Amino acid sequence: MSKSLNIAVYPGDGIGPEVIAPTLRVLQRVEQLDGTFQLRFTEFPWGAEFGRESGRVVPDDYLDQLRPFDAILLGALGWPERLPDHVTLAPLIRIRQAFDQYACLRPARLFPGLPCVLADKRPEQIDMLVIRENSEGEYVDQGGRLRRGTPDEVALQTAVHTRRGVERILRFGFRMAQRRRRKLTMITKSNVLRHAFVLWEEVLHEVAGDYPDVSSERQHCDAAAMNMVRRPEQFDVIVASNLFGDILTDLGGVLAGGLGLAPSSNTNPERRFPSMFEPVHGSAPDIAGRGIANPLAAMLSAAMMLDQLDLPPAADRIRRAVAQTLAAGHQTPDLGGALTTNEMGERVLLQLEPT
Ligand code: NAI
Ligand code: MG
Repeated sequence: MSKSLNIAVYPGDGIGPEVIAPTLRVLQRVEQLDGTFQLRFTEFPWGAEFGRESGRVVPDDYLDQLRPFDAILLGALGWPERLPDHVTLAPLIRIRQAFDQYACLRPARLFPGLPCVLADKRPEQIDMLVIRENSEGEYVDQGGRLRRGTPDEVALQTAVHTRRGVERILRFGFRMAQRRRRKLTMITKSNVLRHAFVLWEEVLHEVAGDYPDVSSERQHCDAAAMNMVRRPEQFDVIVASNLFGDILTDLGGVLAGGLGLAPSSNTNPERRFPSMFEPVHGSAPDIAGRGIANPLAAMLSAAMMLDQLDLPPAADRIRRAVAQTLAAGHQTPDLGGALTTNEMGERVLLQLEPT
């Protein structure tokens, strides 16, 4: 019996639909080749074009519509010419919160055949997974402003770190490390932020014993940024608070070849809600409509989706095909080549075929 999985597809704006189309073709081919599962796609045409007049980018009940799905595959949102970003991107933020997608995963792996921004680093030296706490920390929007507009103005921006929140992201990080090279680096800044990050360190100390097969360490955020550039090979899994994770995931992304290749997931590890998978990049209005966007970030995000749906062999098929495509020198303009989005998609489909 092959298992059936319901996937909500939300292509969005700009290059979102352009990169999602070849990604769905790749998923369909992998489904045929694997033969153990069936993907049922339901596409939601939401975004800047949807409800042009009303300015509403999604229907009122969009969360209820998405909730029953096994996963959400998202392209990109944003069409600044037509609507402000806080309108078009609002559903994205809301989905992450409402579905308690507290772990944001961004693997940074350099594929052979691509140049690295770091001199003298080989692909096997850049292979890390940055896990960003996605639900609390510095981004909880708590604070206020006093004496507005006066020379005595004061702004307060409060961060929230809960024991429960820190523990669950660390445990998730340890479990991911067990599937990789068994090393976890927790990002801290306890030398100055001595309330929040001393809590993080205490929790690390408490939970590490439950994962004796994983070695763990902590690094201050500033040192970690330096070391990711100097010695990227020393990192396997990195777990960071919301703000530190935001910064370090961008650094990881550029080390691994840039936006055209960077995948991500917003995960609810307990699976009480669907998780959401999306390329890191946005809707790229500057190249939208020209058919030249790199679809690999979206395809690698789809591979992360298959991992989370317990289909790692199928996920590996996609990653292998992408790696072989790049190793053969096939590149879209962002990587220095001349292939269109569809041509790149065709190359990946060819690499999927059994030899
Ligand atoms: P962006 O990621 O859309 O583009 C930045 C630069 O990278 C552009 O020059 C673009 O052409 C290039 N680029 C991005 N993805 C590419 C791909 N797959 N292939 C080739 N080149 C690629 O970021 P930007 O320009 O700051 O934002 C554009 C819109 O996207 C805004 O409305 C922004 O709010 C939104 N956005 C949405 C995100 C999401 O949906 N998760 C994330 C980031 C931005
Ligand atoms: Mg960022």
